[in-house]
Amino acid sequence: MSPSDPLNFDRHAFGPDFVWGTATAAYQIEGAVDRDGRTPCVWDTFGRQKGKIKTGETADVACEFYDRYESDLLLHKELGFNAFRFSLSWSRILPDGVGPNQGGRINEAGLAFYDRLIDHCLSLDITPWITLYHWDLPQALELKGGWPNRKIVDWFAEFTDVCTKAFGHKVKHWIILNEPLAFSVLGYFTGQHAPGRRSFRNLLPVIHHTALAQAEGGRVVRRNVPDAQVGTTFSCSPIDPFTPSDQAAAIRVDALMNRLFIEPALGLGYPKELPFLAGIAKKVAKPGDIERLAFNFDFVGLQHYFRAVVEQSYFMPYLWAKDVSPLRRNVQTITEMGWEVYPESMYRIIRQFDQYEGVKKIYITESGAAFYDRVEQGAVNDKARIDYHQNYLQQVLRAKQQGSPVEGYFAWTFLDNFEWAEGYRPRFGLVYVDFRTQQRIVKASGRWFQQLLAKKSFVS
Ligand code: NOJ
Repeated sequence: MSPSDPLNFDRHAFGPDFVWGTATAAYQIEGAVDRDGRTPCVWDTFGRQKGKIKTGETADVACEFYDRYESDLLLHKELGFNAFRFSLSWSRILPDGVGPNQGGRINEAGLAFYDRLIDHCLSLDITPWITLYHWDLPQALELKGGWPNRKIVDWFAEFTDVCTKAFGHKVKHWIILNEPLAFSVLGYFTGQHAPGRRSFRNLLPVIHHTALAQAEGGRVVRRNVPDAQVGTTFSCSPIDPFTPSDQAAAIRVDALMNRLFIEPALGLGYPKELPFLAGIAKKVAKPGDIERLAFNFDFVGLQHYFRAVVEQSYFMPYLWAKDVSPLRRNVQTITEMGWEVYPESMYRIIRQFDQYEGVKKIYITESGAAFYDRVEQGAVNDKARIDYHQNYLQQVLRAKQQGSPVEGYFAWTFLDNFEWAEGYRPRFGLVYVDFRTQQRIVKASGRWFQQLLAKKSFVS
């Protein structure tokens, strides 16, 4: 039985209500960065600095989704997905970063774009899932201090308020943050992502303000859209010790990568296994904050791609651990991002998260792989990506059959797009994009999903 054979894989095993979607992000697909009143975000500024984007490319044009969303969504429909996850560009909606309550303007043209997009989804019977924050902080707010400034909690709350008042009557699935660990640590500590700031001094305030914004955003959505499903997403990976003596290192990395943002939301506080986090309570938090960190999410979104294997290291301050690369471990299947393909990790991470009493529902809000894609006679035969999705989905099913409340899978991603600091080179899409002509070619993996999702009855 070949993993690429759709006949061996039945969507119905996942149940009739399972959500099948793709996930995207505004900055990675929209382009039109200076159109209709949008102002720059931190990625526009960062991307223009020499050497920040490996390929020297910008997202000024990206997939031109801003202009092509109608035909793109038709294609999405043709592939059979019933949900589309996208994010809202904050600076398209609030060009000053803040709204009228804090002295800024609402850009009606920005709201109008998302209104059209939502209506188009609904007319195609595709459920819109909105992510409020997928990393594109308005530059105007970065100039006021960005995430290290505690005022970000109010700025974000107002943005959430404006968006939910505008769209809450027709959108019922709301995701507060996309991968808080990634934008806080890469953006403000290591500097590999926008805004590219590097300092330990920022790290604790950024973590704390992010965790506060996560809960506060949840409360605003709940208040404005009482019948909404409110969730937030986490990048997560099971962590294995390289050798038995690396066990303590694995526990610390797990606390950082998997527990840091969910546990405060569940009312459990920050993980004690990372001693440096104690600085939050001592130096950053205000009275009452610990209670404000908690929010009763309806679901959590897990974004899972690879497992991590780690070892003790004295060279990595605060964490005292580091990654053991797949190359060093002689791993055979590695994606273009250098990530290990290890399907069982999907099962393990779902089981890890469903241990939390407060986790009621899980969606896989991202999973996917970048492989080198070649167009041959007008087709892209991406067998490795088919194998990836099939094998990872099989592990989702395994967890579900053992009782995990996992209710949907969003493939990352619909269209090849701007992969942040990597530029356009890593292609994760089910649909190939020729960035010179903007031509779309459905890859074999897109056709695989189409066949899978088209099946009307059980296969015996
Ligand atoms: C995480 C992010 O949410 C998304 O923006 C990114 O492109 C994918 N994973 C792949 O790296």
